Amino acid sequence: LEFYKMAVERTLSIVKPDAVAKNVIGKIYSRFEEAGLKIVAARMLQLSRADAEGFYAVHKDRPFFKDLVEFMISGPVMVQVLEGENAIAKNRELMGATDPKKADKGTIRADFADSIDANAVHGSDAPETAAVEIAYFFPSMQVCAR
Ligand code: TYD
Repeated sequence: LEFYKMAVERTLSIVKPDAVAKNVIGKIYSRFEEAGLKIVAARMLQLSRADAEGFYAVHKDRPFFKDLVEFMISGPVMVQVLEGENAIAKNRELMGATDPKKADKGTIRADFADSIDANAVHGSDAPETAAVEIAYFFPSMQVCAR
């Protein structure tokens, strides 16, 4: 039981404005649930410019930063914490490659994303970033153990 518990992770997922506008939140949630990931916190919100810049601060010197921020504030996003065994890698696998043209068939980005900048979903890429990103959106008391 202790060993099993150690493999359980949490990751931050965002359904980005393009996918919210396409009305596919439920279809994306089904991918998580079918893969055994549990939704343990969720909220819809309209990010402010400061929210988006803070969230993507690691990319602030990249050429795509300004467009990325504009895109992320272009409409509401759905933010959730996913929990399960190897949740971080599992979610990245479900998402597919950053560029939907390069994403494997059957992945969320292959099926719902239009371009590298409007690519439907975000997912934390490592335990350290997952912890920071979860705390960015949810006080610990709003994440429900399941
Ligand atoms: P990144 O963390 O590299 O990708 P991922 O979302 O797969 O973890 O980049 C963050 C976001 O920045 C990405 O989802 C979309 C945007 N982006 C671009 O618009 N153009 C690019 O060339 C890259 C690398 C990212």
